[in-house]
Amino acid sequence: MKNVFVVIAIILPSVIFSQAQQWINPGEVWPDQNGNHIQAHGGGIIKIGKTYYWYGEERRQGLDSNKRYVSCYASKDLMNWDFKGDVLQLADPENLGRRWVCERPKVFYNTKTKKYVMYLHLDNSNYKLAKVAVCVSDKPDGNYEYVKSFRPLEHESRDIGQFIDDDGQAYLIFEDRPFGFRVAKLTEDYMGIEKEMCLVNMKLEGGAVVHYNGLYYAIGSALTGWNPNPNKYATATSLEGPWSAFKDIAPPETKTYGSQSTLMLKVAGRKKTTVIFMADIWKPRTQWDSRYLWMPLEIGNGKLWLQEPKPWKIDVKTGEVKEKGTDE
Ligand code: DGJ
Repeated sequence: MKNVFVVIAIILPSVIFSQAQQWINPGEVWPDQNGNHIQAHGGGIIKIGKTYYWYGEERRQGLDSNKRYVSCYASKDLMNWDFKGDVLQLADPENLGRRWVCERPKVFYNTKTKKYVMYLHLDNSNYKLAKVAVCVSDKPDGNYEYVKSFRPLEHESRDIGQFIDDDGQAYLIFEDRPFGFRVAKLTEDYMGIEKEMCLVNMKLEGGAVVHYNGLYYAIGSALTGWNPNPNKYATATSLEGPWSAFKDIAPPETKTYGSQSTLMLKVAGRKKTTVIFMADIWKPRTQWDSRYLWMPLEIGNGKLWLQEPKPWKIDVKTGEVKEKGTDE
């Protein structure tokens, strides 16, 4: 009898957690395979084979306050995520001093060099340095080694975002205050910036771009620190622009339902292509408890709209989504 209890005690947690995520619950605690809240803030996602990798700021409690950490999670269904560890554990690389900043990691996989190249926003405590850092790994889940930092094309760069076009070309999105944000093509080995595609003349951060049905959609948030604001979008037929006027992505009084954009992920399934809006619900005083708002967007014909968040799920094979409460 005792043995039966021991077996149940061993198996039960994995059963509970392996079945835990039937839904994506915007704004809720999002447990990983161990039941810990996912720590991948200001994140980015790439897909390698059938696996999605989610990288973000690791902000769990009890970390070495002199270091900055980037976490990595892996998933095949975008709902259940396995923590792969803190794949970058960085000590102040450039004598930046106390409260130095390392935010919004974005990883690109270079098929020619077979390297995983991570871009980060690197700064000092007053956000005046405004550089990107580049780190490299041979595997998606690390470890990443610090290589260098620079200002992309000599411009200031704070929040960064990533965009990979349908032809596989990789672009860095970076905020260049006071001008707006820029989209720039990475060099062939992804270790630098080849050229600027456009300067989007709007003061936005948390920049993200998606290419959907022949149109480019760019979104971003206003410059209000950790506080939410009405995020906006514009469209263009070419990455070089011209970009349309910016419009709200959600009722402005909701301030993007309390969130800030970080990425738009396109899931091209057998039956449908879904674009997921991925955003952070920051809790500046308890950052480890910051949440995520992921929702499928209403998108097409030049329009983009974020509906009121509710639990939902996606079938990554078909691309179809379902809201909780609608008929199964
Ligand atoms: C807003 C940015 O989007 C965040 O990544 C972070 O840099 C905060 N500002 C800091 O106030």
